Amino acid sequence: MNIQAYLDNQRSRVDGFLEKALPSKGMEPVMLYHSMAYSLLGGGKRIRPIVTIASAQALDYDKDEMLPFAAALECVHTYSLIHDDLPAMDDDDYRRGRLTNHKVYGEGMAILAGDGLLTMAFELCSLEENGKSFSCQQQLSIVRELALGSGHQGMVGGQVMDIQAENHDIELPHLQRIHAYKTGRLIRAAVRIGGIIGGATPMQLEALTDYAEDIGLAFQIADDVLNMVGSREELGKDAGTDEKRGKKTYPAFFGVEGARQLGDQCVERAIKRLDGFGSSAEPLRQIATYIMIRRN
Ligand code: IPE
Ligand code: IPE
Ligand code: MG
Ligand code: MG
Repeated sequence: MNIQAYLDNQRSRVDGFLEKALPSKGMEPVMLYHSMAYSLLGGGKRIRPIVTIASAQALDYDKDEMLPFAAALECVHTYSLIHDDLPAMDDDDYRRGRLTNHKVYGEGMAILAGDGLLTMAFELCSLEENGKSFSCQQQLSIVRELALGSGHQGMVGGQVMDIQAENHDIELPHLQRIHAYKTGRLIRAAVRIGGIIGGATPMQLEALTDYAEDIGLAFQIADDVLNMVGSREELGKDAGTDEKRGKKTYPAFFGVEGARQLGDQCVERAIKRLDGFGSSAEPLRQIATYIMIRRN
């Protein structure tokens, strides 16, 4: 399969849904919707919703009815990026090839656009029409996965550890924990939500979860490496910022090549976790490989 074509197709599918899901820009409060749309519809690889789709596909489910859940992951992710870029956090000026949200709309509006996107994610998970295709149990489990992946035991918890570790000489296990929470848990939720959509058995869900934990770590290792070796043109965000902000990352521990190798090992492990699945899991396998070879 051609992974680039697959990613392009699934990204358009997600983008089409997101464009329709966001309230029209004329609605009050106008500035809030402008600010939300600016970040949500302004590019991005859409890896988390695509991973949800690919996970459902691995279980032979591929209907558009899953898109609200996939889109919800992107809403949470985009909110996390808006807040991550704020002066009180990473203080970044560029994201997805454009000025960061607070640089355009101001800090107050950026905080609120993030809040709006976070809550919109749960609105999408609780759409009335979801009940036509998914059981109450499935919908409730999905909401729970999303909340756990996003919140204090997930992305938010990881972001706290990340800012607390700035300018501290942390040990490797602590860095692994930061990565697992700030990036891994939302990716884990994305994969597991796809599993729930596709009606995974407990054993299948376990294999998918193991896969998710491996690609989650690889994803953040790749992000760390790109921060060291990439450029703003390639990444759509400033490079070299981790070192400047005193963030200890994988390349800081192992060098760029060492970090890449560790990322590759995660990818290999992730692919092995899917041995019990047939060819329908090919997108998941290819996504794992793509994570370490991506250029942005
Ligand atoms: C960047 O995420 C932040 C991390 C959690 C590593 P992505 O690399 O998925 O960013 P977009 O969505 O494509 O902009
Ligand atoms: C982002 O981590 C993690 C989030 C939860 C947003 P980084 O701060 O390392 O990601 P970039 O490099 O700004 O995209
Ligand atoms: Mg950060
Ligand atoms: Mg950042």
